[in-house]
Amino acid sequence: MSGLSRIGVAIDSELLEKFDQLISKRGYTNRSEAFRDLIRDELVQKTWESPDAAVVGTVTLVYDHHVRMLSEKLTDLQHEFHRSILSTLHVHLDHDNCLEVLVVRGKAGVVEKIADALISTKGVKHGRLTITTSGAELK
Ligand code: NI
Repeated sequence: MSGLSRIGVAIDSELLEKFDQLISKRGYTNRSEAFRDLIRDELVQKTWESPDAAVVGTVTLVYDHHVRMLSEKLTDLQHEFHRSILSTLHVHLDHDNCLEVLVVRGKAGVVEKIADALISTKGVKHGRLTITTSGAELK
């Protein structure tokens, strides 16, 4: 179990003012929680640098389902990696476009490979991997 430590941070006044404006816009009511979130985000980013680290992420894809064989290719890829893909949300955005959000869990290297394979598939208009964590190792 870890205790609570108090630290003092010396920071340029103008920089602090900008930081306060930023966190106020984002809804933080105090600096401490904003600092903690910045640190957690850096730690999560760092985890992803180790290919064997256990991670969680989401892959967002936008594509036109009329593109020949595209839906089939994306489905084939998802079946290939079915052990790592926990859930898929599909939204028909309009007559042509589909949005898919996949929740992916596994080793960082595998999750990135899945995301790259899906996003680089010809016909995918936009794709993004969002990295996060199971939260187990963060306070
Ligand atoms: Ni659709």
